[in-house]
Amino acid sequence: MKVIICKDKKEVAKEAYKVVRDRVMNQGAKVLGLPTGTTPEGLYAEMVKGCKKGEIDFSDVHTFNLDEYIGLPVEHPQSYRNFMNTRLFDHINIKASNIDFLDGLTDDIDRECARYEAHMEELGGIKLQIVGIGRDGHIGFNEPGTSLSSRTHMITLAQSTITDNANLFFDGDESQVPRWALSMGVGTVLDAKEVLMIAFGKNKADAIQGMLEGPITYMNTSSALQLHPDVTVVIDEAAASKLKYRDYYKRIAPGNEEAMLKFLAAARKKAGRK
Ligand code: PGA
Repeated sequence: MKVIICKDKKEVAKEAYKVVRDRVMNQGAKVLGLPTGTTPEGLYAEMVKGCKKGEIDFSDVHTFNLDEYIGLPVEHPQSYRNFMNTRLFDHINIKASNIDFLDGLTDDIDRECARYEAHMEELGGIKLQIVGIGRDGHIGFNEPGTSLSSRTHMITLAQSTITDNANLFFDGDESQVPRWALSMGVGTVLDAKEVLMIAFGKNKADAIQGMLEGPITYMNTSSALQLHPDVTVVIDEAAASKLKYRDYYKRIAPGNEEAMLKFLAAARKKAGRK
């Protein structure tokens, strides 16, 4: 995994935006997987700004979101669909028909999950999947104990997630947080061509350490990303604070390959190689 350690969450948003802009504009990533939560808010603000400046164009981009609560109508202020509309979709030039979302009010959960997976496949799969991470290591809503090969499915939220989401989005009222959600599975996330993980804050440090340096285990579903060949992790110093190999990740950060090539060129010259 490529690990980019930034000073703070503002820098995380800017670095993550650079990746998104490059993949969408230069590498033909026209199918995106998107997260909700406090983590991507800064990135979405950068994407909105970039779109207004004409740096990034969403007119032929399709999106799938990672998850949605069961039981909340779209217009509910805390539904994930409403979050995405207000933070991103309403402010960029994406076509409404190119936004797919899990229907948390479906009357047939299995059919809805299968429909979602089939639609991703029809579009050739997700090219860039952006994910946040829960305190318990979840990606999407894949709580500890979720199969690492799971596909889009119904999940029961862990208590730590209910507490966190109550504090962040429901004025601390846990009784208002739905207990269940629909979520892409871990296997669905692993199928994306590339994954961009973003995180900041001290409360994510244990989960990040487990993801990067722990064993692959369904007790921290983000650790499955160790099996993915193309993952970029953009985190701040606080989220990186428990990493054993922190200094090493800094050494292999962007710019490292250029430095290596320069070194190699000089060594070849010294050795008289053409
Ligand atoms: P957060 O949630 O961005 O609100 O911290 C992250 C997640 O649960 O994936």
